[in-house]
Amino acid sequence: MEVIIIGGGLIGLSIAFELIERGVKITIIEKDKIGKGASWAAGGMLAPQSEGLDGEFLNFCLESRNLYGDFIKRIEEKTLKETGYWKCGILKLAFSKEEAQKIKQDVERFKRLGLPALWLDRKALEKEYKNLGDEVIGGALYKEDSQVDNRKLCNALANYVKQNAKVLENTKVLKIDDKNGKFNKLITDKGEFKADLCVLSAGAWSGEILDIPVFPLKGEMLALDIQKDEIDKVLYSSKSYLIPRRDFHRLVVGATQENVGFKGGNTAYGTLKLLKGSINTLKNLAYKNIQELWFGYRPSTPDELPLLGNSGIENLVLATGHHRNGILLAPITAEVPHPNLTKVIYSPHTLR
Ligand code: GLY
Repeated sequence: MEVIIIGGGLIGLSIAFELIERGVKITIIEKDKIGKGASWAAGGMLAPQSEGLDGEFLNFCLESRNLYGDFIKRIEEKTLKETGYWKCGILKLAFSKEEAQKIKQDVERFKRLGLPALWLDRKALEKEYKNLGDEVIGGALYKEDSQVDNRKLCNALANYVKQNAKVLENTKVLKIDDKNGKFNKLITDKGEFKADLCVLSAGAWSGEILDIPVFPLKGEMLALDIQKDEIDKVLYSSKSYLIPRRDFHRLVVGATQENVGFKGGNTAYGTLKLLKGSINTLKNLAYKNIQELWFGYRPSTPDELPLLGNSGIENLVLATGHHRNGILLAPITAEVPHPNLTKVIYSPHTLR
């Protein structure tokens, strides 16, 4: 069996990893370099509770969070690379009475679902955080929300996939050709490719390849130079999120969210917003050096739900539109329950 994967971000690489493990022959077609794009730009939070998700989509995201430990174990064993997966917990902070009320409601909702969630008032938080911003009222501790170092994970998978699959970088897809409603071939600027199945996982660029409602949602990011082990949890709020990397002098700060197409660059406004968000959360961050500025494009959809599974063209499946949750949803998107892929809708969880 041969599968073409369009797009070598974390989703495409994770799908490739699972299929290679099942003996499938893979070709990855990537317009740039594999393991980059939004997967490289992301913060790596695994945060279904902190993101305040609900309903069927919450369950889907929780299932993927539950798969993460085993997913990482298998990748680390195969690649002999460490990925910075850290069950550090996430504190969701409130900066106003309205935010506190909403977060407390979430805490109660999660408790009813049997999920760990604990409201901590300012006094309790001050015991742990000496430099807490003056406006922080309190926050919810979601101890099952976690993080992975998305860049390390991408590097590990990119190396593995390069050794175990055909990878064509700097290759632009010109057309997905179908015959009688069935995937026929992929036409690229480097030639044409046939396969039994084609997976579209081209992130924010998916809507330029196929007529599907996926569009870029830009996010600006920066990193501050903190002491190793200075912060032990992700601190998340409406102002910013602060992600300390484990055993590492680095605090990843995210993210803006702007619908400006593929407009590039870090703006003064975006940088100011992220810096203010960090300093309003922990005052001493004002004195930290800036390590890096970068940006990326989330693959978003009008209803903010991913497009997974049947594309309407036989043997062309979708694995895109993950909006803010692509790193979290990599394991469940890549799950392949049946070895005979031609007979099943690719994803066991079609949300539409
Ligand atoms: N996952 C957080 C973000 O997209 O900014």
